Amino acid sequence: MRDAYIVQSVRTPGCKQKRGQFNQTRPEELASFIMKEAVERTPNLKPEDLDDVMLGCAFPEAEQGLNLGRIANQMAGFPEKVSGAVVNRFCASGLEAIALASARVQMGWSEVCMGAGCESMTFVPMGGNVPRPHPEYSKTNPENYISMGVTAENVANRYNVSREDQDKFAADSQAKAAAAKEADNFPEIVPTPAYYYVEQADGTYKKESKIVKYDDGIRPSTPEQLGKLRTVFAAAGSVTAGNASQTTDGAAATIIASKEKCDELGLTPIGRLVTYATVGCKSDEMGVGPKYAIPAALKTAGLTIDDIDIWEINEAFASQALHCIRELDLEKYMDRINIKGGAIALGHPLGCTGAKLTATMFANLKQVDGKYGVVSMCIGGGMGAAAIFERF
Ligand SMILES: CC(C)(COP(=O)(O)OP(=O)(O)OC[C@H]1O[C@@H](n2cnc3c(N)ncnc32)[C@H](O)[C@@H]1OP(=O)(O)O)[C@@H](O)C(=O)NCCC(=O)NCCS
Repeated sequence: MRDAYIVQSVRTPGCKQKRGQFNQTRPEELASFIMKEAVERTPNLKPEDLDDVMLGCAFPEAEQGLNLGRIANQMAGFPEKVSGAVVNRFCASGLEAIALASARVQMGWSEVCMGAGCESMTFVPMGGNVPRPHPEYSKTNPENYISMGVTAENVANRYNVSREDQDKFAADSQAKAAAAKEADNFPEIVPTPAYYYVEQADGTYKKESKIVKYDDGIRPSTPEQLGKLRTVFAAAGSVTAGNASQTTDGAAATIIASKEKCDELGLTPIGRLVTYATVGCKSDEMGVGPKYAIPAALKTAGLTIDDIDIWEINEAFASQALHCIRELDLEKYMDRINIKGGAIALGHPLGCTGAKLTATMFANLKQVDGKYGVVSMCIGGGMGAAAIFERF
């Protein structure tokens, strides 16, 4: 297999669904913007050097339909010859896109390939606009269709993750994110235009824009404040809006090039994907996925948890993230996990998240001068995904 090197990894801010700053910015605009910026910010790379774009999206329909991977790359101004596809593995879609882009380069099928992700949960809600579960199968297997919040309650109940522990975890996530924002320390974010429509005197609307620099859901809160929030998915449960991930709009892009192309064009590699694992688990406790996927990835890479300098473990819910951290014996490394907060504070734009966390992980690895980073998440339907990256 050939060497496939990562030469760029960036993201837009993540903004709250419906009430956030991207609530009038279409997914094609978010995706095409970050694709274009990823290329422009890579010295010596031109759009015509790209072969293909793999774009993760968890609900690729309506405004996100019609092959967003191709539409967005054309809107970005890439030449006609740049092909594009949409990849769906729900919350791991963006990571899957990066893995596929890397594999294409390793196989010699592409020289330069982009792995990206985009989700506008404002334009296309979780579950899609017209969910149509299979009529008979959904009756015999309802657990494959239940709310993600209910699966988070199941994890909390089955594995004894208390409300207090979830709220403490959530407060820590918010505090880390707020500190990073205060220090202007999200170098992987590209300030991104948010569009909105202003009514004119003649009744028409004018499209205007403003630049968004930060994730807009950061809300520092004490465990005591969070402890007062009502539960959302079960009356006597423990999962609340404060200890669950936020529903979010955002996009991210990573560029992968062959060693040969890096040498030819003078591209500077920043790292590589070492390995990628996906593992299935019970769908009614899908949040446990990372506790299976992370050991699988470590085993293939011949590494242990002690070798990992930065962990980006998606905080779909505090209950599942904390359970996986405990099961993996990672509590001793809390200072390496989600060091600038996670999805509880920064948002979880489903199909974008894997690509977003990859950009964050590389920025965080650079900050700590680390070598290996892990991006992992649970996945609806009962799966976990984990990727190990090496920084050069
Ligand atoms: C949990 C969830 C339903 C909450 O959505 P929401 O109701 O729109 O959330 P909001 O931001 O409006 O918060 C609800 C309330 O909690 C409060 N709240 C939220 N976070 C808070 C915080 N950190 N501190 C204090 N209060 C907070 C809000 O102020 C709001 O109160 P209000 O109604 O008095 O204004 C939604 O975020 C969700 O579905 N998350 C999980 C997404 C998911 O399943 N992803 C896939 C994972 S696999």
